[in-house]
Amino acid sequence: MITATTWLLLLSSAFGHLSRVSKCGSNNRSGVDFLGSYRGKETSPGQYPWVLAALDCRDSLTRYIGGGSLIASSVVLSSVQVLRDTSEADLLVRAGEWNVSTTTEMYSHVDRPVKRIVRHEQFNNQNGDNDVALLFLTLAFPAQPNIRPVCLAEEPAAFGGVGCFYNGWGMEETNSLEYPNVLKKVTIIVKSNVSSISLSDNFILGQATNRNIGCKGESGSPLVCPVPRNPNSFEQIGILICKDGRPSLFTNVAKFLPWINKQVEDIAQNDDYETNSKNILVY
Ligand SMILES: *[C@@H]1O[C@H](CO)[C@@H](O)[C@H](O)[C@H]1NC(C)=O
Ligand SMILES: *[C@@H]1O[C@H](CO)[C@@H](O)[C@H](O)[C@H]1NC(C)=O
Ligand SMILES: *[C@@H]1O[C@H](CO)[C@@H](O)[C@H](O)[C@H]1NC(C)=O
Repeated sequence: MITATTWLLLLSSAFGHLSRVSKCGSNNRSGVDFLGSYRGKETSPGQYPWVLAALDCRDSLTRYIGGGSLIASSVVLSSVQVLRDTSEADLLVRAGEWNVSTTTEMYSHVDRPVKRIVRHEQFNNQNGDNDVALLFLTLAFPAQPNIRPVCLAEEPAAFGGVGCFYNGWGMEETNSLEYPNVLKKVTIIVKSNVSSISLSDNFILGQATNRNIGCKGESGSPLVCPVPRNPNSFEQIGILICKDGRPSLFTNVAKFLPWINKQVEDIAQNDDYETNSKNILVY
């Protein structure tokens, strides 16, 4: 049964593709923890509940290696570049994080191990083409106010490039050496017409409104835009490819929806994933 507090990713048939979740992409505009709001950087705890951190836990210290987004209770969208040579056992995915230096947020973050990494077979390390990967988690994230999936855009052009942004914990500025401890928000002007600059439509081109902003360390972070007729709801149109330290190139999510759907289908039908469809689909 679908209730207000249950997010369902419905399979279109027995094992179909990911279809739209009624509650995906909604956020809490002022955040969920007013004590911790951080206006200077434009984010509050829980404000962007689909934003995830990929952590390398090979050493005793867990290191932030890049971003990702929650697209279903146990499915993460990220990039090949972020994962590099890591294997499943090397990784943790963190949801619900805001200030990495404290655990005093009202709702705590949650870490999950990775059961299966699926990298796009045609990833091109030279030009960043097909830079998309999925992480299937061993256990679904719980439903809580600071953890919620994002919708995936079927048509990036529909947004007209207005009000789009991504979030990450990467380098603040292109020439700084410091990483922020609080989740940052980077406003991006999306250039809707990439064909005119001879770039494949596997990419989305954008420009940060703040020219000094850096993106080092936060590849894989989700670029979202408000849904035109429902501005309190967000759809992911891109995955950050941090090229030359500047956030200007993104993987075009809409172009990869068929690939994403196929991987989810395959996993759902794969016995050795040892999960049932509920684990992937239901909060
Ligand atoms: C936003 O978060 C606050 C504090 O947790 C909560 O009281 C409020 O109901 C939330 N609003 C929505 C729309 O989720
Ligand atoms: C993040 O946590 C650190 C360590 O507790 C603290 O010094 C800093 O002020 C916090 N940042 C914000 C914006 O609350
Ligand atoms: C996009 O670029 C193509 C080719 O240069 C041009 O024909 C088309 O009119 C442009 N569309 C928009 C919306 O600018």
